[in-house]
Amino acid sequence: MSLAERQAIAREWAALDDAELTTLRDSGLSMTEADLMIENVIGRFSLPFAIATNFRINGRDYLAPMVVEEASVVAACSNAAKLFRQGGGFSASADEPIMIGQLQVLDLADMDAAVDAIRSCESEILERANAACGSIVARGGGAIDLQARPLRETPIGDMLILHLHVDVRDAMGANAINTAVELIAPLIESICGGRINLRILSNLSDRRMARASGTIPKRALETKDATGTKVIQWILEAAAFAEADPYRAATHNKGIMNGIDALALATGNDWRAIEAGAHAYAAQSGRYRSLTQWTLDEDGDLRGEIELPLALGIVGGATRTHRGAQTALKLLGVQSARELAQVAAAVGLAQNLAAIRALATDGIQKGHMRMHARQLALAAGANNVNARAVAAQMIEEGNIRLRRAEAIVREQRQKS
Ligand code: MEV
Repeated sequence: MSLAERQAIAREWAALDDAELTTLRDSGLSMTEADLMIENVIGRFSLPFAIATNFRINGRDYLAPMVVEEASVVAACSNAAKLFRQGGGFSASADEPIMIGQLQVLDLADMDAAVDAIRSCESEILERANAACGSIVARGGGAIDLQARPLRETPIGDMLILHLHVDVRDAMGANAINTAVELIAPLIESICGGRINLRILSNLSDRRMARASGTIPKRALETKDATGTKVIQWILEAAAFAEADPYRAATHNKGIMNGIDALALATGNDWRAIEAGAHAYAAQSGRYRSLTQWTLDEDGDLRGEIELPLALGIVGGATRTHRGAQTALKLLGVQSARELAQVAAAVGLAQNLAAIRALATDGIQKGHMRMHARQLALAAGANNVNARAVAAQMIEEGNIRLRRAEAIVREQRQKS
């Protein structure tokens, strides 16, 4: 489809108005808005906003917005979602949106007595925390409990780590959590007699897990050279490699995050927080592992599962202030942060399938080189219209280089 055709479909799908369509075209952030968003602004920086297609999650169709600079990610994701679709689509779920805020309590004379004292005042502490969570409490969330985690014999001696759990509803929740832990710190000091140093959220948001799973029928994986069963065997070998070897697991998980980050970025979410949580979770057993599991089901079809912490919001921060993010959320049509996390988990699983299937069959360079050729053509001065022709010629010649692209562009100019 042409760019205009794609835009028309997106427009109809989500009933986008003229302003939202303009937002997609002009990147959704004015200079004034950018200047208000961060410090020392001197301009704006655009990335492509694309749509991953074919997602069917819990019986509902989604168009998944993705903002990413890497070629092939969106096509691969859409392709893999189509394979899952042939098995009925994804099943996905997400926990209640519970974030963790940490307080580091030091200089305690008696750790056990401090823990007891804090426990006996828990409801007073939670009440104080809720004073900082105004709109979240109004929406049915708020501080729900407090956990004590004594850490003994650290390099600076014993410390008591307190975890404040807050249900942040549809927010990512960083602001609410950070305000709440700062607010309760003096009260906790007065209760236990210690000194509080850090007060900050944890990005290992393992109370806020999301999961997705799905099945790909073996016939959908057949290639012209291999049966579906053979391809499944190669995919399972790839998955076992990632499970056994952290060097491979890092790349395997990077591929998963290609999709999840792109969705997080499109929806105005903090993708570094998502990255931090995903990788910390992948290492939680003491060894860095794969975030996905691939198995053979009883019919000989391929089954994939993913589970990871996903602290994504649909209100607050850039999700509200960036018009592009607002348009992305409208395209998705999600009603809650939990629903967004379910979509993100499915996108991550699809992205992983796309990568390991390509790696276990043709390799990824074939597809990549096609996109790379187009980018070289653009860099060599081809316009949007003839970039594809320049790329096609380089691929046919098996000579995909900037110099060759420049020469073809020169030849074209001389002819016209
Ligand atoms: C490239 O961005 C991502 C891959 O390396 C992921 C993988 O190896 O699984 C293709």
